[in-house]
This record gives sequence, structure tokens and C-alpha cells, in this order.
Amino acid sequence: MQNRIKVGIIGASGYAGAELVRLLINHNKVEIVSISSQSYIGQPLSHLYPTFFGVYDAVLESDLDVIEKADVIFASLPHGYCEKYASICDKQNKVFIDLGADFRLDQEVDYQNWYGLNYNEKELHSKQVYGLTEMNRDIIKDSKLIGNPGCYPTSILLGLYPVLKSKINKTNHFVIDSKSGTTGAGKSLSEATHFPRCNESFHPYKIGDHRHIPEIEQELSKMQGEQITVQFTPHLLPINRGIVSTIYVDLNDNVSKEDVYNAYKIYDNEYFIRVLNEGDVADLKFVKYSNFCDISLHYDKRLHKLVVVSCIDNMVKGAAGQAIQNMNIICGFDETEGLKIVAPAF
Ligand SMILES: NC(=O)c1ccc[n+]([C@@H]2O[C@H](COP(=O)([O-])OP(=O)(O)OC[C@H]3O[C@@H](n4cnc5c(N)ncnc54)[C@H](OP(=O)(O)O)[C@@H]3O)[C@@H](O)[C@H]2O)c1
Repeated sequence: MQNRIKVGIIGASGYAGAELVRLLINHNKVEIVSISSQSYIGQPLSHLYPTFFGVYDAVLESDLDVIEKADVIFASLPHGYCEKYASICDKQNKVFIDLGADFRLDQEVDYQNWYGLNYNEKELHSKQVYGLTEMNRDIIKDSKLIGNPGCYPTSILLGLYPVLKSKINKTNHFVIDSKSGTTGAGKSLSEATHFPRCNESFHPYKIGDHRHIPEIEQELSKMQGEQITVQFTPHLLPINRGIVSTIYVDLNDNVSKEDVYNAYKIYDNEYFIRVLNEGDVADLKFVKYSNFCDISLHYDKRLHKLVVVSCIDNMVKGAAGQAIQNMNIICGFDETEGLKIVAPAF
């Protein structure tokens, strides 16, 4: 264990926190020195999640124990709880990677409007970096405060980036349908994710009113250099994990199918982004448990539109995996360390 970076996980008793543990116990450059919980302090994580039994039986501690013992802190809490912890880490020069929404939005007014809370430490927020790895690795590497992207935004931003980068879109407005498995809502019990309610069901929710909208519009607007709006409709899939985002793009008049595929060549050297061959359709099955984002492109000649299908595992590329990718960059490790996992083949 010598020379390994000391990492800790605040909120390891939650779904995204437990996913961080699952991935980090196989990471060759770090040691998990502390994990925390709100409700289960003093209990082994393997009591809550028997998958860890005999492999990782560490006992859950307090959030402050994690900050004291670790040099890189992952926080996986509901929004509104991380500012105070990030502030302590900032003063102690520790790396803080927040999987929640407290450091994603540039404008406090968006945080107020969509999350109902203020930024209490404005200077701290001036240091936050949006952790969409493939787009921002140059600024991530010098940052100690990362707002890890939301799960829906990750699938959508990666799906649309080449379109905006090459400016092949005709309009600055996009229609997006996304479908997520129930782990996207975390482990708290709710009527909507109760098994008899969601099993054998499929429905949209929070139509045009989901908290990820300001984050998606903020980042797409930065990519385009102009204001972008989205009509975003999330759906609840009766499966455990995974997100499929279907994105509809009006193409500029002179854009050909070849131009579209050329635009996505920007991902040729990205290990975790796989642009599928023409004719193939991105499928959740082949990204589950992995850090891959699979993208398929479908040119509708009749309407001169592009349909982009972007698939991720919400718990990995949409949360814990991307957070580890960001840590790898900050710590100077190979970006793929601990993350070279493929989905089960069937
Ligand atoms: N699930 C996803 O797909 C996903 C993807 C990307 C980002 N995220 C974000 O990651 C964060 C965690 O999500 P999750 O799905 O893992 O949620 P979760 O399963 O509900 O876990 C929440 C965690 O926060 C702790 N917690 C709850 N209330 C707390 C409080 N008042 N003070 C301190 N700790 C508290 C819980 O501790 P106890 O269990 O001990 O009570 C638990 O460890 C959220 O901000 C979420 O938006 C989730």
C-alpha cells in the first residue's frame, strides 16, 4: 500500500458512494482510508451491501473522519450538504470531488431557481471546475474542486459535443428524450421507484422541469458560444441501471451524412467514448458496469435530421467512474486506471 494516494468517500452508504467503493478497491494507485455514512456509522459497509463481504469490510465512519484521513475526498450526498465539506478541504489543500449538484452551476441564480438554495461561500464557487472529463481535462488537472456532472447531462453533452463543435446544427434548440434506470433516484424509497409501481411500467416524469436542465443548457451554451435551449423529457425505465438519451438535431442545409461522421471523429482518440459503426444502434446492455459512453448516429435523409443515441451506465460514467477518471487526471495517473471494465457480453 506504500505510496498509494489516500482517498475517502463521504456517503459510501448510498448507491453512488458504494459504486465508488466497488471501483476503487480495484484501483492500483489508491487506498481507501475512510468511508462515511449518516445513518450507519459503526457498521461495516458489507452489512449494507454483502457484495463487499470478505473483500472490503471497513466500518462506516463520520463525514469529518473521511476529511481528516484522506487527501482526495469523494462526496456523494444529496445537494446542499457539500459546500461546508468542500470549504474545509479547500483550506487544507485537499482534492474534493462532489458527485452531487453543489458545484456544477456557474450562476448562483440557477442554483437558487432549480435547487432552492444559495451559494454561501462565493469565493469557493469561483474555484469549481465542471468535471466533464473529455471536454475539460485541461482545467481539471489543475483543479482541487470538481463538480462531477449529472448522469443525464453526461450522456447528452457527450452525445452533442461534436455537433456543436463543428457547428453542423441549424438551430440552437434541441429536443431530447432520456430514459434512466431506477438507481438514478438513489436508494431512498419512493412511490415512483417502488417495485410494483415501476415494474412492467414506463413513463416520462418532470417533463420540461428536471433539475438537470440548467446544467445541460449551461454546458451546451459554452460549447456553442451562444445560448442553447433544450426540451428535455426524462423517463423512468424499470431496470436497475443505465441511461439512453435520444437527441434530435436539425442539420444545416449544406451538411452531408459524411460531414456528420467526420464531426464525430473528434472522439477517435477517446478511450471511453465509442462512436458505433453506421447501422449499429447504441444499447445499454453493452455499457452497463462500464465507464463507456456508446454513441450511435442515425441520419434521417427524408427530414435531413440527425438522431444521436447516447448510452451510459448512470452509476459509472454518469457518477463514480467519471469521478475516478477526474481523480486520475488530477493525480497524474493514467486516465483509464481502475476503469478498464467492459459490460458482460450477454
Ligand atoms: N444515482 C445516480 O445515478 C447518480 C448519478 C450522478 C450523481 N448522483 C448524485 O450523487 C449524490 C448521491 O446520490 P445517490 O444516488 O448515491 O443517493 P443515495 O443512494 O440516496 O445516497 C445518499 C447518501 O447521502 C447520505 N446522506 C443522506 N442524507 C444526508 C445528510 N443529511 N447528511 C449527510 N449525508 C446524508 C446517505 O447516508 P445514509 O445512507 O447513511 O443515510 C447516503 O450515503 C446525489 O447528489 C445525486 O444527485 C447520483
